[in-house]
Amino acid sequence: MSDLTPKDPRVEQAGASDESLQAAHEKLLGRKPDDGAHYKMLPLVLLFVFSGLIFYAGTYLNHYSARYDATVFDENGHSTKGVTAMAKVDPMVLGKKNFELVCATCHQVTGLGVPGVYPPLAESEWVNGSEERLIRIVLHGLKGPVSVKGTVYSAAAMPVFGKVAGSGYNWSDDKIAAVLTYIRASFGNKAPAVTSEQVAAIHAKEGDRKEWSAEELSKLP
Ligand code: HEC
Repeated sequence: MSDLTPKDPRVEQAGASDESLQAAHEKLLGRKPDDGAHYKMLPLVLLFVFSGLIFYAGTYLNHYSARYDATVFDENGHSTKGVTAMAKVDPMVLGKKNFELVCATCHQVTGLGVPGVYPPLAESEWVNGSEERLIRIVLHGLKGPVSVKGTVYSAAAMPVFGKVAGSGYNWSDDKIAAVLTYIRASFGNKAPAVTSEQVAAIHAKEGDRKEWSAEELSKLP
């Protein structure tokens, strides 16, 4: 052995004793569990970091999404000095959107209603008549028999839409004015627009109350 070149690693390996090989393997085997533990810690930490990030992102979105309402800039619109107020959304556009999203489930996109259940808005005397009665119907709801175009409807109730007690919708006065403006100018109807101020005035006057009946409304202007 002594006459071989000691620097050659292959030669050194070949000359290794059983003990030295075993020691080398034990050293390697002994290190493995440590390495494993080390690599396991990283994903666990990442799991916490990402869970935290996802939670933060969810909270952030929930807080700033404004319920993904396209009209939110209009509703909360406020002008800053030197900047003119954001253009108001056209009530016909806003009204159509909300009508088709909500009212049309009962009164249909055509405004023709469903015979025997949901009265028509097309050519309805309630839609084309007194703005004040119409505003009340949408603000507080309508219950009990109502005659529309000579047919009496009483199978279902008209929901409460205003920001009033018992409302499932909490629509702003602006939103109600827009939808009323839309139904008064659609389905062949040709009645003038309803303004947010008109809705706000009735809202302030009546406040919270139960659903109207057609009989109560017919006594009002
Ligand atoms: C869940 C179904 C439903 C939804 C949604 C609904 N309505 Fe009605 N609506 C009714 C029913 C039912 C009546 C009749 C109530 C009664 O018999 O007293 C009615 C009556 C009316 C009337 C008076 C009668 C007529 O036909 O002219 C108007 C106006 C009206 N609704 C407008 C609206 C508007 C605007 C919306 C959306 C903001 C809307 N409704 C959403 C069910 C609904």
